[in-house]
Amino acid sequence: MDRNLALEFVRITEAAALASAKLMGRGDEKAADQAAVDAMRKAFDSVRINGTVVIGEGERDEAPMLFIGEKVGMKTEDSPFVDIALDPLEGTTICAKGGVGAISVIAVAEQGGFLHAPDTYMDKIACGPGAKGVIDLDLSPKENIFRVAEALRKPVEDMVVVILDRERHADLIAAVRKTGARIQLIGDGDVSAAVAASWPDSGIDLLLGTGGAPEGVISAAAMQCLGGDFQGRLMFRNQNERGRAEKMGLKDLDRKRNLQDLANGSVMFCATGVTDGPFLKGVKVYPGRRASTHSVVMRSKTKTIRTIEAQHDLNSKPTMGAWL
Ligand code: FBP
Repeated sequence: MDRNLALEFVRITEAAALASAKLMGRGDEKAADQAAVDAMRKAFDSVRINGTVVIGEGERDEAPMLFIGEKVGMKTEDSPFVDIALDPLEGTTICAKGGVGAISVIAVAEQGGFLHAPDTYMDKIACGPGAKGVIDLDLSPKENIFRVAEALRKPVEDMVVVILDRERHADLIAAVRKTGARIQLIGDGDVSAAVAASWPDSGIDLLLGTGGAPEGVISAAAMQCLGGDFQGRLMFRNQNERGRAEKMGLKDLDRKRNLQDLANGSVMFCATGVTDGPFLKGVKVYPGRRASTHSVVMRSKTKTIRTIEAQHDLNSKPTMGAWL
């Protein structure tokens, strides 16, 4: 993966973050998501890649832009062929409510590097580098918490486990509480939460629970770059979802998948904060149509984690239609 592309990808997530942050707190998830999609789709046109969206806004019949299979990028003779997993606005409700942890995100891999995850659920576990290798989705929450605590040399009572605040997690939450570990319940945004588990000083040690499968693949790409760990198992709500997964060519639908199964080879992860979150600041807007963004870009090959704070003059950005 060409490192020169890294900055190009940051420009794409910056564009999507700026566009959606304009609609923060308006209570309109769809409009915020659409703004991010439009901006991201447009920004791809200036990046020299031969990209295929493998995790995107949905299947072709339901998503007019950035759908699975869509070709993106500026094709030149030497544009590299890459697969792309993206979410122009991860945390649509967070953005609509002005909550914590909405991001715009892109992960990039060599062709075939990402699991082509259908739009279903995934049971997930994620931790940082300090506990890599000790987590196992087949173990109970209690066993995982004790293993991670031991690896991190922390009393269990000091651990923080992040879980999506959902009815379906009632038993999980009860089981975690029983161990004495502390819990951070989040309304949405388990990509931010997974990254936070690997992010120094985020205060989060472990992510547990079921969230979106596409978000699981994007989280796994981040974990490859951060040296953390992630496992996931697809969870199907009905036969129709299983059928769709089979149609996408997936085998062994119920098997536990590790980091390499989800995001393999050389991968890049790039995200820009839309609202303030556990590892990125959100977009800030200043008088005179100026705005600032905070992004991270990282590659699995070198494990360099680069954060980028940018000041934008929106008057001179033709791609920022929503802001002009
Ligand atoms: P959106 O950005 O598509 O709204 O997804 C937000 C999110 O919270 C993800 O982070 C998470 O993986 C998924 O939704 C959980 O799904 P559900 O809301 O159905 O529990």
